[in-house]
Amino acid sequence: MRLFAVFNALLILLIVVGGCQTAVVDQTAFTPVLLQGEEVYQLNCQRCHHPQGQGYRRLFPNLASNQIVTGHDPIPMIQVVKNGRGAMPSFDEALTDEEIAAVLTYIRNSWGNEAEPISPQQVRNLGESEG
Ligand code: HEC
Repeated sequence: MRLFAVFNALLILLIVVGGCQTAVVDQTAFTPVLLQGEEVYQLNCQRCHHPQGQGYRRLFPNLASNQIVTGHDPIPMIQVVKNGRGAMPSFDEALTDEEIAAVLTYIRNSWGNEAEPISPQQVRNLGESEG
C-alpha cells in the first residue's frame, strides 16, 4: 500500500515535470504578470474580443492563434493596443505601460497561444519613438 502511494507521487511528479519541459515558453516564470494581464483583459478587452479570445466573426478579430498576437515581432500588436485602429480603441490613456505589457503577455499566452512575454519597457519605448 505504501509503495503504491510512493509510486503515485512519483508518477504525478513525472507528469508535472514532463508538462513543463514540453512548453516552448516557461509560463510559470511570469505567472503574476499573467494574473494581472487576465484582470486587465476582463475589464478592458473581453467585451469585444470574447472571454476566450475568439472575437466575434466579422466584427472583432480572434486573438487566439492570431499571428499578430503571437508574432516574433510584437511591435504591430503593441501599436494597435496603444494607438487603436479602426473600431479598436486606443488604450494609451486608459492603461499604464505595465498594464498594457501584462495584458499583451496574457493574450500571447492564453487559449493555446505561446509567445515571449512583453516588458513595460517595450511598450514605453514604442511610445517615445513616436513622439
Ligand atoms: C470596442 C471593442 C474593442 C475593445 C474594447 C478592444 N478591442 Fe482589440 N480590436 C477591436 C477591433 C474592431 C479590432 C480590429 C481593428 C482593425 O484592424 O480595424 C481590434 C484589433 C486588435 C488587435 C489586432 C488583431 C488583428 O488581428 O489585427 C489586438 C492585438 C487587439 N485588438 C487587442 C486588444 C486588447 C489587448 C484589448 C484590451 C486592452 C482590446 N483589443 C480591446 C475591438 C476592440
